Amino acid sequence: MQQIRATVAHEFQLVNQLIVNQLHSDVDMVENVGHYIVDAGGKRLRPLLVLLSAAALGRCSDAHITFAAVIEFIHTATLLHDDVVDISTLRRGRPTANAEFGNAPSVLVGDFLYTRAFQLMVRLGDMDILAHMAETTNTIAEGEVLQLTRAGDADTSEAQYLDVITRKTAILFAAACYGAATLSSQDQQTRDALRDYGLNLGIAFQMIDDVLDYDGDPATMGKNVGDDLMEGKVTLPLIHTLRRGNPEEQAVIRDAITRKSADQIVQITTAVKRCGALDHTRLRARHYCDLALQSLATVPAGDARTALVRLTELAINREN
Ligand code: IPE
Ligand code: IPE
Ligand code: MG
Ligand code: MG
Repeated sequence: MQQIRATVAHEFQLVNQLIVNQLHSDVDMVENVGHYIVDAGGKRLRPLLVLLSAAALGRCSDAHITFAAVIEFIHTATLLHDDVVDISTLRRGRPTANAEFGNAPSVLVGDFLYTRAFQLMVRLGDMDILAHMAETTNTIAEGEVLQLTRAGDADTSEAQYLDVITRKTAILFAAACYGAATLSSQDQQTRDALRDYGLNLGIAFQMIDDVLDYDGDPATMGKNVGDDLMEGKVTLPLIHTLRRGNPEEQAVIRDAITRKSADQIVQITTAVKRCGALDHTRLRARHYCDLALQSLATVPAGDARTALVRLTELAINREN
C-alpha cells in the first residue's frame, strides 16, 4: 500500500487533512461520531483511486483533492448507515459507531457526512460532477434497499447478486475514476474507460469482501466474520454452495438464510469451503479484475498507471 501511495503521497496527505478539517461542526455529537469513524482510518482506497486516476491522466489538481475527500465522505456515510442496517459490531478494528453511540447518532451523522460531501461538491462548481454524484448516491441507496429486500431469499440468483453489488459498491468506485477524468477535462471515451475500470474493480472488491466474510481474520480485517449469514445476505459464496452442495448442505444453508441466523456458521463455512465456493468467488473476482485492467490499458503508461495496476491486484489479494 505504501508503494501504491508513493506516486501521490503529498496529495494523499492533503486529502486526509481536508477530510479532518471538513468534519468540523459546532454540534459536539457530529464531531464525536465523525472523528470516531474517520480517525479509525480505513484503507482510503477510493480517494487513492481519484488521485491516481488524475495523476495517470496528467495532473492532480486542487479540485481532485476536494473530490477525493467527497468520495471518502460518501463512502464513510454509507458505512455508518450500513452497520446500523447490518447490525454490525466491529469496523476498522473498533466497535462500530452504532455499537458505541447507538443507531440514531450513526444514521444522523451519516446524513451529515452525505450532505457535507454535497457542500464540498458545490464548492467545486462542476455541474457534470454534481449530476454524476447525485445519480451515484441515489443508486447506492437503491442498492442497499434492494439488498435489504433480497435478504432471507435463498433463491437469489447470481445475476441479482451482481446487480446489488454493482449498485451498492461498484458504482462509487466507478464514480471516483469517472469524476477524476471529468475534472481532468478528458474526452467522453477516456471518461468511460476510467468508469469501466472503476466499475469492474468495485465488483471484484465486493466479491472479495464477501469471501472474507466467511474466510477472513477479524483481527486483520477489523470486521467480524459471519455478518452476511446473520443478515440472511445471499452472496456468491452461498449461491455457489447452494448449486454444488449435497442435499443436506443445501437444506442447512436454505434454513439459515430464511431464518437470518448464523447459528450454523461452522457447518456452513465447512460446506462453503468443501464446495470450492471461495475459490470460485475469487476466480470471478479475478475475471472482473482482468476486465478492469483491460480498461486501464487505454490510459497513458507511467508511475500512476503502474500504481493503479498494483492497487487492482491488491484489491483481490487483500486480507483486510
Ligand atoms: C467496506 O469498504 C465496504 C465495502 C464496500 C465492502 P472498505 O473495505 O474500503 O472499507 P475501509 O474504508 O477500508 O474501512
Ligand atoms: C458494502 O457491503 C456496504 C456498502 C456499500 C456500504 P457490506 O455490508 O458487505 O460491507 P461491510 O462488510 O459491512 O464492510
Ligand atoms: Mg455491512
Ligand atoms: Mg461485507
